Amino acid sequence: MKTFLIYMSLLFMSIGNLSAAQSPEYVKLEQKIVDFLKTSWCTEEKAKVILECVVANQPKVCVEIGAFTGSSTLPLLAGLKYVNHGHAYVIDAWSNKETIRGLPEDDPNTVWWASLDMKAIKKQFIQTMDQWSLNSYFKVLHMSSRKAASQISQIDFLHLDGNFSEEGALLDTQLYLPKVVPGGHILISNVLIMIGKKPTKIKALWPLFEQCEIVCEIENGNAFLFRKK
Ligand SMILES: C[S@@+](CC[C@H](N)C(=O)[O-])C[C@H]1O[C@@H](n2cnc3c(N)ncnc32)[C@H](O)[C@@H]1O
Repeated sequence: MKTFLIYMSLLFMSIGNLSAAQSPEYVKLEQKIVDFLKTSWCTEEKAKVILECVVANQPKVCVEIGAFTGSSTLPLLAGLKYVNHGHAYVIDAWSNKETIRGLPEDDPNTVWWASLDMKAIKKQFIQTMDQWSLNSYFKVLHMSSRKAASQISQIDFLHLDGNFSEEGALLDTQLYLPKVVPGGHILISNVLIMIGKKPTKIKALWPLFEQCEIVCEIENGNAFLFRKK
């Protein structure tokens, strides 16, 4: 494990050309996003990485699988707006049934996901995007990631943060990683989630390790930013 971590740290690379991210305007935007997300699912560290990656690399086509209330969608779209370039597909089923697909019935995660008011969660997503005037930068695909896959061809920035089951998370990597262009970026979140005493997202990581270089580790290994070889 230690050798593996040393190997990974040797592979860490810069997020991209940071010159665009140095202006006072950028610093102000970053702080505004961090303040807004204080009590959200998206940590300050992750929000900063997403914004920086988008501003530095100016991706043309972005895809986020798993938007929930839009916490991680916000730095992604705010980055696109800042550089005035690119567009995103935001995929979420906003469905209790889809979200618990593949999860063990008695797990606390399953119980929690099954109890959520998904209509209210989508409403919060829409309100946030309205409030930040981001509507022209994305298209919502309100469906499962399986169904959405056929609507998307090439991807420059991909955020994998959808289904928590082993099969569901792996399927997202298998369906969407081949669409990412060489040099494109992939962020995978909630890697350390434990469901039924199992780290269910680990299998979804392996194709990323095989086909990509690690750019950075986020939240002590709970998320990784990769660049496709
Ligand atoms: C961990 S949350 C996403 C959190 C969000 N990225 C954030 O930072 O706030 C996972 C989301 O994936 C969605 N989801 C789960 N399984 C899905 C599937 N098969 N297809 C599409 N969306 C799915 C859920 O509805 C949920 O909103």
